[in-house]
Amino acid sequence: MKFVGVFVATLLAGLVSAAPGTPFRRRRADSGHRLINRIDSANANITNVSYSSNWAGAVLVGTGYTSVTGTFTVPTPTTAGSGSAWVGIDGDTCGTAILQTGVDWTKSGSSVTYDAWYEWYPDYAYDFSGITISAGNSITVTVTATSKTGGTATIKNNTTGKSVSHTFSNEGSLGSLCEYNAEWIVEDFEEGNSLVSFADFGTVVFTGASATKSGASVGVTGASIIDIEQSKVLTSVTLNSASEVTITYV
Ligand SMILES: *[C@@H]1O[C@H](CO)[C@@H](O)[C@H](O)[C@H]1NC(C)=O
Ligand SMILES: *[C@@H]1O[C@H](CO)[C@@H](O)[C@H](O)[C@H]1NC(C)=O
Ligand SMILES: *[C@@H]1O[C@H](CO)[C@@H](O)[C@H](O)[C@H]1NC(C)=O
Ligand SMILES: *[C@@H]1O[C@H](CO)[C@@H](O)[C@H](O)[C@H]1NC(C)=O
Repeated sequence: MKFVGVFVATLLAGLVSAAPGTPFRRRRADSGHRLINRIDSANANITNVSYSSNWAGAVLVGTGYTSVTGTFTVPTPTTAGSGSAWVGIDGDTCGTAILQTGVDWTKSGSSVTYDAWYEWYPDYAYDFSGITISAGNSITVTVTATSKTGGTATIKNNTTGKSVSHTFSNEGSLGSLCEYNAEWIVEDFEEGNSLVSFADFGTVVFTGASATKSGASVGVTGASIIDIEQSKVLTSVTLNSASEVTITYV
């Protein structure tokens, strides 16, 4: 009985929160994409890398970051599990909000599925409609903050130029951005309060990686590197140039 009650309440809450006339947007079971439990392990003296249980990638830390973009080829996971590649503003040294967009992958048996999503953490991630992601697609992901409580998330098919976009406005009741971080990330994301099993995704290379800092375009030079360490280190991140970040499952 209790389960039925909870289910109905959840369903009603979902229906009520969908604005009239807008298609129902699927919610993830949890907040999804955020940095948790950064380890900063003692190995940091080797390459000045930080370790996290769920983020791998490059993070610029400073002030005035209002836009982040990068292009990557959608990977094919080779072991069962999930993962996500995305760009975002905040979530490292600012924890009140994250403006982010990217692609999740899940391999189950021989089937691999993808979702393109946008998120204003601490809200859930929502799936974009009108874009179908396949392995090998070249896609450009971009977030732009137009204020600390609003902005846009865009995913563009880099082959056709066609894009889908979501506009956030007045998100301050959820949490405001600080504009302290710009990041290019592969994540072991959360569903239902626990990390999903992290699939071997091979390699994700963000090309054309750039951010806007106080109105000027900047590259990834000087970014902090974060690798995922769980029972062992699972990723290797390198900055190949001012505009390229490689994240490899190891
Ligand atoms: C730190 O670097 C030194 C010299 O390269 C190395 O011998 C040592 O093992 C490193 N420390 C850790 C904890 O890895
Ligand atoms: C390591 O990173 C910190 C913070 O980004 C920086 O201050 C420090 O100079 C770096 N150390 C080395 C050895 O690169
Ligand atoms: C991008 O466009 C190409 C060429 O039309 C198409 O094959 C691919 O499925 C598209 N991918 C996405 C993510 O839109
Ligand atoms: C994406 O498209 C741009 C032009 O729109 C092109 O310059 C760039 O090389 C493309 N990137 C990839 C990875 O295909």
